[in-house]
Amino acid sequence: MTTIDENTDTDTDTEAEQLRSNLELIGRENIDDLEAVLSFVGQYDVEGFHRVPDNCPAEFTWDYEKGSKPQLDRLYEKAKKAQWNGQTDLDWSIEVDQERVVIANAEANPAQMQWDESAIAGTVLEKWDDQRFIQFGIENQNWLLSQFMHGEQGALLCTAKIVETVPWIDAKYYAATQVMDEARHVEVFSKYLDEKLSGHYPMNAHLGLLLDDIVGDSRWDMTYLGMQIMVEGLALAAFGFIHAMTTEPLLKKLLRYVMADEARHVAFGVLSLQEYYKELSAAELRERQEFAFEAAIRMKDRLVMQEVWERMEVPTADVMKVMQAAPERDEFQILLFSKIVPNLKKLGLLDAADGWLRTKFTEMGAIAFENLTDSTEDEDAFADGSPAERQVA
Ligand SMILES: [Fe+2]
Ligand SMILES: [Fe+2]
Repeated sequence: MTTIDENTDTDTDTEAEQLRSNLELIGRENIDDLEAVLSFVGQYDVEGFHRVPDNCPAEFTWDYEKGSKPQLDRLYEKAKKAQWNGQTDLDWSIEVDQERVVIANAEANPAQMQWDESAIAGTVLEKWDDQRFIQFGIENQNWLLSQFMHGEQGALLCTAKIVETVPWIDAKYYAATQVMDEARHVEVFSKYLDEKLSGHYPMNAHLGLLLDDIVGDSRWDMTYLGMQIMVEGLALAAFGFIHAMTTEPLLKKLLRYVMADEARHVAFGVLSLQEYYKELSAAELRERQEFAFEAAIRMKDRLVMQEVWERMEVPTADVMKVMQAAPERDEFQILLFSKIVPNLKKLGLLDAADGWLRTKFTEMGAIAFENLTDSTEDEDAFADGSPAERQVA
């Protein structure tokens, strides 16, 4: 994260003149350095909690005129009608047999969930029996839902912070509905983990770094950029894939409801930032570009699932071998950036500073998504997701 003060005289444009190198931004030169990524594994804090200093000034506004930001006002009205109840709108009586789900999911999605014999040759995975592969699949489920739960708590804290810091009343109102949404998301993922799965994982180390940066930044728009645009943009795509791939009906429905909320959240980020970013100086925009790149890499790094490999006692060299032998998995992960890239384009961040961020996403292989519709146009994409929305439609 950069620390340039908002009051910097940007006309002279000195401190942020140069965009920083990969080494300065993400601690390594090569974004695909798997060994560096795998060396950083999430652990539970021994105290049982994690505290991050929050440096944002809380801002009162005396302009109470509702609707002065019409698009945000519309989103707020929509959010009020779209509330659902995680306890009663989902059928928690559905039994989940994790082993059977692992097998059924792998049969339904061989390209994503089955390993090629050639990819595992010469590694410990070659000696695994069926039961060990099933255990790996179960750990994957536990890990994935744990990361969803931790990420949702990050969203809960960030949105509460936006209520305090954003200057406009319409945005404060909308953010308040998102606080409720995120509380419900933490609640349902936590309930699913506890009642249907078989164990928790700590927050992934790379996701944790990103959330600490977002919470710790003193500028209100960085919370939006980090959470609504980057983390929630990726989550929306990820929920969509898991929703499409899972054969388990309770999780499928749960994700559908959550996605209906997330589509609004990402739209909220784009609507709030698009005007504001037009007023920023070149130096201020460069900082936002760097932050977006750093966030993208942290999120890509977490997809390696370091904590699962460690629990399954697979040596780093073997993890690297199987991952490098299965490049189609990497391609699949890049699809998770399909919501983020068009939104960054809409905000002007792809093209600022001679297209620096465009080059970065080109290197990552994700630039083709820039021509997809941005999230202000598909906030209704999942609008029939919740019972309340169906009734008002
Ligand atoms: Fe959420
Ligand atoms: Fe969200």
